[in-house]
Amino acid sequence: MILKTAEEVELMRHSALLVSNTLAMIAAELKPGIDTLSLDKRIREFIYDHKAVPSFLNYHGYPYSSCISVNDVVVHGFPTKKALQEKDIVSIDVGVILNDWHGDHAYTFAIGEPDPAVVQLIRVTKESLYKGIEKAVVGNRVGDISNAIQEHTEKAHGYGVVRELVGHGLGKNLHEDPQVPNYGKRGSGPKLKEGLVIAIEPMINLGKKEVYTDKDGWTVRTKDGTVSVHFEHDVCVYKNKAAILSDYAPIEKAERANSNLFPSATVQLFS
Ligand code: MF3
Ligand code: CO
Repeated sequence: MILKTAEEVELMRHSALLVSNTLAMIAAELKPGIDTLSLDKRIREFIYDHKAVPSFLNYHGYPYSSCISVNDVVVHGFPTKKALQEKDIVSIDVGVILNDWHGDHAYTFAIGEPDPAVVQLIRVTKESLYKGIEKAVVGNRVGDISNAIQEHTEKAHGYGVVRELVGHGLGKNLHEDPQVPNYGKRGSGPKLKEGLVIAIEPMINLGKKEVYTDKDGWTVRTKDGTVSVHFEHDVCVYKNKAAILSDYAPIEKAERANSNLFPSATVQLFS
C-alpha cells in the first residue's frame, strides 16, 4: 500500500479535477442523437489539450480514452457510433495521467426522464458512494467502506452489488493496493492509513448482481438485462474526514443546465 505525501495528494487533486472537468464538458454535450464515439473523441482531445494523457487508452489493450456504459452495460463499455436515445442511462468513466499522477472517476447520467425505479437506483448508488467515503478515515478498514456501500444498496434497497469489479488504490499507477470491494464485512480487510488514495466506485444493478463479459473481452453487462449505475470518486484517507479529490460540483452544474438530462440528486458528505 503506497501512501502519498501532502504535496503528492495536491498533485493528485489536480489529476482528479481534470477528470471532473472532462466529465462536466461532456455533461453539456449529452443529448438524444449524439453517438458515444464522438464523445470519446471530445474526451481524448480535452485531456491532451490540458497537458495530460488518457490513461485508459491502451491500458491492457483497452482501445478508447473513456468507458461509456449504456443501460445494461455495467462498466468498460466501448464508445460506439450508435446514437444515444431518450431514457438511456449512461455511465462515463474517464482516467488521466497529469504530472505522472492518475485521476480516475465516473458519473452516471440519464438522458430524458427515466422510470422512477431508475431515478431511485441512481440516487441510492450516489448516496452509497458518499456513505463509503464517510468510512474512509484512519482507524477504519477497507471492509468498513465496502460494508457501508453494500448495506445502503443491497440490504436497504435489494439492488445487485457487482462482485467481479472493485475499487482500488490510485497513484502513479491506475490500480494500486488495496482493492476496495463494494461488499464486505465491517472491520475486515486492510487498515486505512493517512495518505492512502483510493478510487471508491459502487457498480450497482437494478436487478440481480450477476454479470457477464461480452465477446469483445471488455464490455461487462448485467445477466438479467437490467440497468446498472456507476459512480466513482478519488478519495484520500485522513484522520477525521476523507478528502474527496474529484469534484461532482461542475458535473452537477452542467447536468442541471442541460435540459436533455434528468439531474440526479446532489449528495453531501456528512460527519
Ligand atoms: N475506472 C475503471 C477502473 O478503475 C476503468 C479502467 S478500465 C480501462 O478499473 F481499461 F479502461 F482502463
Ligand atoms: Co477506477
